[in-house]
Amino acid sequence: MPPFPQDVTVDPPGPESRDAYEVSAEFYDILQADQDRARVHRFYGRDVRAARRGVLDVGAGTGRVTLMSLAESRAPVHAVEPARSMRSLLMTRLAALPVDMRTRVTVHPHGLDEAALRAVADVAICHNTIGCLPPASRRALWSAVARALVPGGVLLVHLPPDRLPRAESTHVLPAQKVGEHVYGGRMVMSADADRIRTRFDYWVRGAKGVLREYTETFWMWPASRAEVAGELAGSGFVPLPERADPAVLAVRLGRARRAPRADRPGGVRRGARL
Ligand SMILES: C[S@@+](CC[C@H](N)C(=O)[O-])C[C@H]1O[C@@H](n2cnc3c(N)ncnc32)[C@H](O)[C@@H]1O
Repeated sequence: MPPFPQDVTVDPPGPESRDAYEVSAEFYDILQADQDRARVHRFYGRDVRAARRGVLDVGAGTGRVTLMSLAESRAPVHAVEPARSMRSLLMTRLAALPVDMRTRVTVHPHGLDEAALRAVADVAICHNTIGCLPPASRRALWSAVARALVPGGVLLVHLPPDRLPRAESTHVLPAQKVGEHVYGGRMVMSADADRIRTRFDYWVRGAKGVLREYTETFWMWPASRAEVAGELAGSGFVPLPERADPAVLAVRLGRARRAPRADRPGGVRRGARL
């Protein structure tokens, strides 16, 4: 007798690209969640409460914006998260929710460009995401967001650093006690050509000293508000009034751009040669 019913197919394990967050995922929430929880409410809470068609969380990570959106709105939520390590933490969070909340959220295990979402949301949020994308990928993201939004939909972009750091800078992540251990870390940023090298050092200490230490490096690409706004205009977004916090850029998707008549089924452009 076969081990599985005949009609079940199992994909053979394929080569998966290295998960960029495989080290950081363990430390992400314990070292950064508290301050960020308050920030996402402040940045996006009002827009999320006004959502009717859906909320799109681009680069959902461990689910900070997704969870806030489920709590603050009754609309469907689409969480787009390509990294397996981050998505696993998100899924654990969703599994703990009441069923009526959990059935409102769909998790897309790809980059937004591959998720092929069409008109699923009237509010889209890119929180702490676009700084991690090289400029060409960032520009490609905007047309994918435009396709995922309904006309008139609002996009809120948490802006990346607007320039390269002049000198190396260190930001200490406040240490947190978990039982008998203390978790800590720091973020070290420095310029490298046109990118920002962002190195995270993590440690776990016990009574007798350091138990574990890890390092993971990310690249970030700076972009000014004007640069991002210009790219968004190219994908059909128009500016909204500035938000209280300058870290957020708010835009609205303009009226749907219709294809030229000749491109529509059965359509012929006036004066076109046949
Ligand atoms: C720095 S994390 C931020 C996660 C979350 N937004 C937060 O603030 O906690 C950036 C996330 O964007 C995801 N990401 C990278 N490229 C993406 C893409 N093309 N589409 C959607 N998400 C992407 C990464 O996997 C990562 O989880």
